[in-house]
Amino acid sequence: MTKKILILPGDGIGPEIVSEAVAVLEEIKDKLGLAFELDEALLGGSAIDATGVPLPDETLEKAKSSDAILLGAVGGPKWDELDTAIRPEKGLLGIRSQLDLFGNLRPAILYPQLADASSLKPEIVAGLDILIVRELTGGIYFGQPRGVRTLENGEREGYNTYVYSESEIRRIAKVAFESAQKRGKKVCSVDKANVLEVTVLWREILDEVAKDYPDVELSHMYVDNAAMQLVRAPKQFDVMVTGNMFGDILSDAAAMLTGSIGMLPSASLNESGQGMYEPCHGSAPDIAGQGIANPLATILSAAMMLRYSLAEVEAADLIEKAVSNVLDQGLRTADIYSDGMQKVSTREMGEAVVAALRAL
Ligand code: NAD
Ligand code: IPM
Ligand code: MN
Repeated sequence: MTKKILILPGDGIGPEIVSEAVAVLEEIKDKLGLAFELDEALLGGSAIDATGVPLPDETLEKAKSSDAILLGAVGGPKWDELDTAIRPEKGLLGIRSQLDLFGNLRPAILYPQLADASSLKPEIVAGLDILIVRELTGGIYFGQPRGVRTLENGEREGYNTYVYSESEIRRIAKVAFESAQKRGKKVCSVDKANVLEVTVLWREILDEVAKDYPDVELSHMYVDNAAMQLVRAPKQFDVMVTGNMFGDILSDAAAMLTGSIGMLPSASLNESGQGMYEPCHGSAPDIAGQGIANPLATILSAAMMLRYSLAEVEAADLIEKAVSNVLDQGLRTADIYSDGMQKVSTREMGEAVVAALRAL
């Protein structure tokens, strides 16, 4: 049956990187005779400009009825003064929440060709392969009450609520343990259980769920230490599981180990296997419109989409191989450039991946 993929280019570098990923999808579709069709919709700042809201009903309906979604990035200075309730980011959070995409997988893998691009010494990152499992639809991002209120003395106070229910913790824990079973069989749960009650409960539930996965080793680590360990000795980790905000922060740090935030893809899944796929980075307003952004995180997100939501494993493998071959050829966008390599634009990088795919 023909699968439906919804494309959400978004803002800033979003449209630039997404068009390269779409070219790669078209190529793999022709090459393997895959049955999927692409549709497109507005999300974020571009949706605000066109319709007044960051997540138009039409986009949400299309998202709900698609098998998978590929997103660029949203946000930018043009919309930064808007209230948080109607900012571009609210559109992204809305789609995650409405589709219940609670399981966010962020694989930080160092391509050996990029060892020199990492800000850490090559021996610290060589062979790096970490999976960050981030809870994506709960925690402090969504907890109620939230807002800004005026106190009796006239001073304003901002507040958010960090809350997780047992069932929310249990389902993300299962994603982490099941992922670990397919790889290094270690889960490190990251929390702040020395201070925050919500993460005391988190730790308790992780211990409980671990009993169902005796082949997986569970450890716990405080988030401040985890941030330090990620840059000290990142290869100690296999799967890291954590809440929404800690996962946001740690995955950007992990991205840098791989050479650039422009290399880190992600999958956000719900219980029925429907997923949204996006690079971990944002809309990069500082380089938008210049044609120099790295499209590989988005192309690798498209590969994850084929693997997880369309069950097209061969297609995903081929795209990942094509990316590796392009890196072998010495092609580098500015963010992963090092001496002796050939600097290329977003478009040239995308075209090189398409050509490498064709050659496979
Ligand atoms: P950012 O990730 O957009 O950029 C951080 C730095 O990384 C910038 O210097 C940027 O040029 C660089 N960078 C990011 N992606 C790159 C790529 N593919 N190639 C080369 N360099 C790249 O983070 P920010 O500047 O904090 O946020 C900018 C906007 O993006 C904000 O509005 C933010 O809310 C939004 N944002 C959106 C998402 C998303 O849509 N998933 C994620 C993060 C941030
Ligand atoms: C990400 C982004 C988003 C998040 C923002 C844009 C809402 O930083 O996907 O990592 O914090 O989840
Ligand atoms: Mn982030």
